[in-house]
Amino acid sequence: MVKTGILGQGIYLPPKKLTNLDLEKIVETSDEWIRTRTGIQERRVVSNEKTSELASKAAINALENSKIPASKIDLIVVATASPDSNFPSLACKVQKAIGASKAFAFDINAVCAGYLYALTTAKQYIQTGMANYALVIGAENFTSLIDWQDRNTCVLFGDGAGACVLGPVTSGGILADYLMAFGSQCDLMHVVAGEKRSPFHPDTTQSKLPYVVMHGQELFKLAVASMADAVDEVLKKAKIKKEEVACVIPHQANDRIISAVAKKLNIPKEKIFVNIEKYGNMSAASIAVAMYEAEESKRIKKGDYVVLVVFGAGLVSAANVVKWS
Ligand code: ACO
Repeated sequence: MVKTGILGQGIYLPPKKLTNLDLEKIVETSDEWIRTRTGIQERRVVSNEKTSELASKAAINALENSKIPASKIDLIVVATASPDSNFPSLACKVQKAIGASKAFAFDINAVCAGYLYALTTAKQYIQTGMANYALVIGAENFTSLIDWQDRNTCVLFGDGAGACVLGPVTSGGILADYLMAFGSQCDLMHVVAGEKRSPFHPDTTQSKLPYVVMHGQELFKLAVASMADAVDEVLKKAKIKKEEVACVIPHQANDRIISAVAKKLNIPKEKIFVNIEKYGNMSAASIAVAMYEAEESKRIKKGDYVVLVVFGAGLVSAANVVKWS
């Protein structure tokens, strides 16, 4: 089996910021409520960019930082729950934008857990020799799925993209993977009005835009339990003790969820990377951007054991242990 690691990372965030104070003008909410209940201060929102443009820009940044040319990429996997359209896949659009002409390419939808689902999937192709270099991207235009009259959801989400190039490494790399799904909980967060129905069904209306509905409190509890379990399981697989972990990078849905996971795992909060204050929940892009910023700010460095952990609508959860290389 080929040892696989992260060779370089990239991000792209749309420049437009939407602060909590801006949201006070849209729905009945307050900066104080949003900050204390979630930790979010502002988020990025697209102006007119499509998800494929965010994905392509993050991909170009990751190729530059890994010093791997697009012509060497064998596989492109994009994690997204908010693609430009049903098809073609974002992965094919990215392939066109970057000129990775020899790659095979497809999308994965595991909502907020998508980036680690994509990372683990791409790793399998490299480990088994079917690909040498893979581009993994998490990209979302999640604000397009939001009902901007619903204060329960509209304060939480943002747009952005992150990416990495995976390839063979001589030591370290991705040591263990954990993927799980709890489909019985799929109604806790879902998109309505965009559901595919027969055009002849009496309930079908073409005028309604799709929007997210969410049962926040139930999700909160399951997020804490499933992320803590995922960390325990993946550390067991990697045969690494909690004390050896230099940094945990979790999905950024709510700072209170992150604190509760740290407490449940008995891991000091200082070891957990948090950047939710700047971006809110960008679904599949959240952990990708957090991983980039953790490396950029030197919170993680070569040789560190890093735990990545996510949960998302579905419900789905995933985790990886990486020895940073
Ligand atoms: N501003 C002001 N008040 C608000 C707002 C708001 N934006 N939103 C809700 N409230 C009110 C409610 O109406 C309620 O009022 P009431 O007591 O008069 O009924 C009160 O605040 C408390 O509401 P709760 O739902 O109990 O608030 P809670 O502390 O649970 O926080 C939150 C809500 C932030 C949504 C939290 O439950 C959460 O983060 N859940 C997890 C959600 C999540 O992670 N979703 C992403 C899933 S991952 C993916 O796949 C995308």
